[in-house]
Amino acid sequence: MATTYVAGIENVRRGRATPVGSLAELSTIRLGKRTENRTPKIRDFVPLAALDDLVFGAWDPIPDNAYDSARVAGVLDPPHVESIAEFLKGLEPMPAVFDQQYVKRLEGTNVKSGKNKRELAEALREDIRNFKAQHGCARLVMVWCASTEVFIEPGPTHENIEAFEKAMEDDDPTIAPSMLYAWASLMEGVPFANGAPNLSVDVPALVQLAENKEVPIGGKDFKTGQTMVKTVLSPMLKARMLGLAGWYSTNILGNRDGEVLDDPGSFKTKEESKLGVLDHILQPSMYPELYGNVFHKVSINYYPPRRDNKEGWDNIDIFGWLGYPMQIKVDFLCRDSILAAPLVHDLALFFDLAQRAGMSGIQEWLSFYFKSPMAAPELTPEHDLFIQHAKLKNTLRWLMGEEQITHLGVEYYQHERA
Ligand SMILES: NC(=O)c1ccc[n+]([C@@H]2O[C@H](COP(=O)([O-])OP(=O)(O)OC[C@H]3O[C@@H](n4cnc5c(N)ncnc54)[C@H](O)[C@@H]3O)[C@@H](O)[C@H]2O)c1
Repeated sequence: MATTYVAGIENVRRGRATPVGSLAELSTIRLGKRTENRTPKIRDFVPLAALDDLVFGAWDPIPDNAYDSARVAGVLDPPHVESIAEFLKGLEPMPAVFDQQYVKRLEGTNVKSGKNKRELAEALREDIRNFKAQHGCARLVMVWCASTEVFIEPGPTHENIEAFEKAMEDDDPTIAPSMLYAWASLMEGVPFANGAPNLSVDVPALVQLAENKEVPIGGKDFKTGQTMVKTVLSPMLKARMLGLAGWYSTNILGNRDGEVLDDPGSFKTKEESKLGVLDHILQPSMYPELYGNVFHKVSINYYPPRRDNKEGWDNIDIFGWLGYPMQIKVDFLCRDSILAAPLVHDLALFFDLAQRAGMSGIQEWLSFYFKSPMAAPELTPEHDLFIQHAKLKNTLRWLMGEEQITHLGVEYYQHERA
């Protein structure tokens, strides 16, 4: 996914492709009343980093450069890869902080060594500083596009910064590599967005660190294929007060992500992220007669012949008036990395914007991009794609001092009496 994103941006910069799927590049935003006809592009409305100003860097335990990696992944056709071969070959991954305990199906050779996790995290900080200096960057954003790690529950080592830093020194197994990247990023004042379902920055210690350092954070897990569809269809059922008996979701996927998720530990992390969505949207405790007894099942099957072309099936058993059953079937023949790449781009630009606007800590307004959005402890996360979309655009209006849009609309019909 990361190389699909970077190669995509280079093709766009050279005028050979369109950044389809990116709100930051393509979407417009309505300002003021419907009668005002003010709908600039988001890119022209808020000050986003220019495409030509972006530079990319990465860590990976697999030493392939971006060209080799793009060829192995086979997501992009040769015209999108060969024409920018030199650019892609110039992107060599830095040695990663990697431990096979957390991603069982990968074997890494391009890996850092250190006395303990603290030392490894300090090495990441040094990489960040060197990268910034070497490329003359004014600002950086880190987006976790690496593999899903095994399931870890938040515990005492994640409670506060002191416990977290002590656990890094003690090499505690509850501190996963993704948390070390998140810690290093925050310590360097770099916003951190987590595209995978592993906890990473979603623990109290790192949320606190983000607030102390005034750095924006967000996650978890890009909302791309099946879950995007789920967060569109389930609000439809709820809006119409239609009942749900069961939702059976299964996928076949043949890329490296599919291989990693074939390990039960990594799949458990993904499963938790995918399952939470329905409960939050349907609120079974408020509507027990409609959603009190939903059978929700999600599975991912590693099937190499399909490579990155995931097939996601949904069988949805619903019921209507007087409880009569009906079914909806969805078969989404999607391309995993093609759906994810524009999300990486939007998050990089919007996290950078958030930091410049003085916003720090959890960026709930960017929930639109995540399957399992982070939210303040006292809040339930918002999962409905269109509420998330409205929230994102309203936040942009708010940042620029424009009026919020409520969609009330009575003003168009209420005429003052003489
Ligand atoms: N549609 C999507 O593509 C999509 C949607 C939602 C979430 N995700 C998540 O995004 C992540 C990446 O997906 P992908 O399709 O690009 O997978 P991928 O296997 O193609 O790429 C992941 C890369 O991360 C590297 N990696 C693993 N551990 C690392 C570490 N500790 N440090 C640095 N690099 C490390 C791997 O070597 C690999 O090259 C996965 O966690 C996946 O579940 C992807």
